[in-house]
Amino acid sequence: MTASSAGSAPATALYDRIGAGYRDVRRPDPRLAALIRDALSGARTVVNVGAGAGSYEPEGAEVTAVDPSRVMLEQHPGRRKVLAGAERLPFADGTFDAAMAVLTVHHWSDRRRGLTELRRVARGQAVFTWDPDHSPELWLIEEYLPEIRTLEHGRFASVAETAEALGAHTVVPFPIPHDFTDGFQIAYWRRPEAFLDPVVRQASSTFAQLGPAVVEPAMERLRADLASGAWHRRHAGLLGRESVDYGYRLIVAGDIGPGAG
Ligand SMILES: C[S@@+](CC[C@H](N)C(=O)[O-])C[C@H]1O[C@@H](n2cnc3c(N)ncnc32)[C@H](O)[C@@H]1O
Repeated sequence: MTASSAGSAPATALYDRIGAGYRDVRRPDPRLAALIRDALSGARTVVNVGAGAGSYEPEGAEVTAVDPSRVMLEQHPGRRKVLAGAERLPFADGTFDAAMAVLTVHHWSDRRRGLTELRRVARGQAVFTWDPDHSPELWLIEEYLPEIRTLEHGRFASVAETAEALGAHTVVPFPIPHDFTDGFQIAYWRRPEAFLDPVVRQASSTFAQLGPAVVEPAMERLRADLASGAWHRRHAGLLGRESVDYGYRLIVAGDIGPGAG
């Protein structure tokens, strides 16, 4: 692992604290992997910024993983690993065919600067993120933890803003399948019992940032609603659905993807 002086943002400390065991709960989902792979097809060299444990990296490409968290990079199986933050990438202009950033931009201390860095070091960009302006919201927020709304709206930029910063040519919606394997918060929209598992909650920065004093009473209410059948009565309509668009988007820019000029 190579170290760079950049990237000691607070989110680094967060993932050094909560990142252990990430790979057990955050298993890459094959449907999201296919979407990202298509966007990156043709890229021979790829930098994965906020790489964590290396989910969604394209097979066959030469991938350089960048992350400011040592705990996360230690779980990354690759050989090219650089300890650094998105805000100051230790690479020359145009080093890579493509840059990817999956569920990480909301952790950056300076999102715009990080996105400018993606454009500087690579000829194409694929960024997977969530749109805070989207509705519907997950029932967990509306009914149990409205505190999530304040937290997430503070750290996620709108998709329009991110697309504009990248000069994107394509924005692809990704409805979340009911059996999505990558255990970030939204994965369990049809499997509410999962939220009661502290191991599942540990893999989500949202729960870590809210803290147990906020989360635990809400989980007790959810536990009671599941036991009484109240949750299932309220959400009978959701239980028959295969996927729901909760506002997750792949933003593609530059010289990659089917929309590249
Ligand atoms: C939710 S994880 C996503 C990891 C991986 N991309 C994935 O899809 O599984 C967010 C990652 O962003 C990293 N991160 C936090 N601050 C960062 C920064 N300033 N620059 C780059 N990555 C950062 C964290 O250390 C963590 O590994």
